[in-house]
Amino acid sequence: MSEPRLSRRGLLAGGAATAVGALAACAPAGSPSTTSAPGATSITGSPAAASTALEPFHGQHQSGIATTPQTYAAFLGLDLRTGVDKEALGRLMRLLTDDARRLTQGRPALADVEPELAADPARLTVTFGFGPGLFTAAGVEHLRPDTVAPLPAFSIDRLEKQWTGGDLLVHIGAEDGVTLAHALRMIVKDARAFAKVRWTQRGFRRSPQVQAPGTTQRNLMGQLDGTVNPVPGTADFDRAVWIGDGPEWLRGGTTLVLRRIHMELETWDAADRVAREFSVGRRLDTGAPLTGHAEHDEADFEKLGAAGFPVISEYAHIRRAHVQDPGMRIFRRTYNYDEGITSDGKSSSGLLFASYQADITRQFVPIQRKLAEADLLNEWTVPIGSAVFAIPPGCAPNGWVGDGLLG
Ligand code: HEM
Repeated sequence: MSEPRLSRRGLLAGGAATAVGALAACAPAGSPSTTSAPGATSITGSPAAASTALEPFHGQHQSGIATTPQTYAAFLGLDLRTGVDKEALGRLMRLLTDDARRLTQGRPALADVEPELAADPARLTVTFGFGPGLFTAAGVEHLRPDTVAPLPAFSIDRLEKQWTGGDLLVHIGAEDGVTLAHALRMIVKDARAFAKVRWTQRGFRRSPQVQAPGTTQRNLMGQLDGTVNPVPGTADFDRAVWIGDGPEWLRGGTTLVLRRIHMELETWDAADRVAREFSVGRRLDTGAPLTGHAEHDEADFEKLGAAGFPVISEYAHIRRAHVQDPGMRIFRRTYNYDEGITSDGKSSSGLLFASYQADITRQFVPIQRKLAEADLLNEWTVPIGSAVFAIPPGCAPNGWVGDGLLG
């Protein structure tokens, strides 16, 4: 429709990258390149500024990982149709990349019949991932890292097929639900001839209008979730998350484990505060470890209580999940989900547990194993979905995501 207007707007917003610089309120550490239209002050200060804020599309890494998490996310798992081979996958990824590039920069997709919906990018990011089946379809099994394979079975798993597996991942994030829905629809349209939708998982976090960006969010159990996490932009983060060796095509990429974890909120409600804090090893109000006072105090796993037992239980979540070497940690970028309530008032809620790491086998699996063996939190949490993906590096302005593998 009004393509010239939209292009101008895209240009304006793009020009802001150099003219205005990062938005203070929506670009804390880890998102230094978020930009907005000229004159914008902060995402909290002006609705217009929030709507036109841009995340970069091109670069060494795909956006949507080190990017400060947006309020809304959708994870789309696709199954390739029979006969989709390397050449077809190349066509698909060119198409998807092109539309992702446009939409994230506030321009309509190629065959966009609702171009007005693209005009407010609201920090939109679109990130692609390749599941194990994609390598088989493309005949490039030899280029699949060993670590990108279905996870070993864990005793706590109650996996449902409707949330598990997938050949191709599209992860969309935005500060606005309308922007996100539009981008999702455009991407699904592009992919329709090549793939079927296996699952769609939608999540949300506290918005920057409600909570200052960079503040640890709360999950639906009421816990501060994300305190001990590698910090984007640091050497520890780079070591833990980005792939620096192995297949050439994946350097600068990472891997994603996406677990859908149901929360038994009704029984959690019945547990008293002491039991709840004991199960994690942290206080619910401040998020401080039971051995400290403030959220970021280091947990003292050696400290004994008056009765001679460890203050942070042997089975507390943070003890079981703790990894000494920061470069060997996983990067948790989780979203809450809440999918409606049954007629008898039971909620279907939980965590879209998105874990990024250079190597799933070396980093994620040992932690998940220790948690499956004994973690007090298992009483209230049940993994019901699981998928793994290689996340290719970012692409150049004249390239497309995955060109190193499928080009
Ligand atoms: C619904 C499920 C889960 C809930 C509600 C949950 C909640 C929490 C909470 C409240 C903390 C303490 C604050 C923080 O550092 O973020 C924490 C820490 C952590 N969690 Fe979870 N978690 C869940 C699942 C998992 C899973 C599946 C993994 C990995 C396989 C995991 C790995 C970690 C790690 C590595 C830490 C930091 C431990 C440390 O202090 O070094 N969590 N989690």
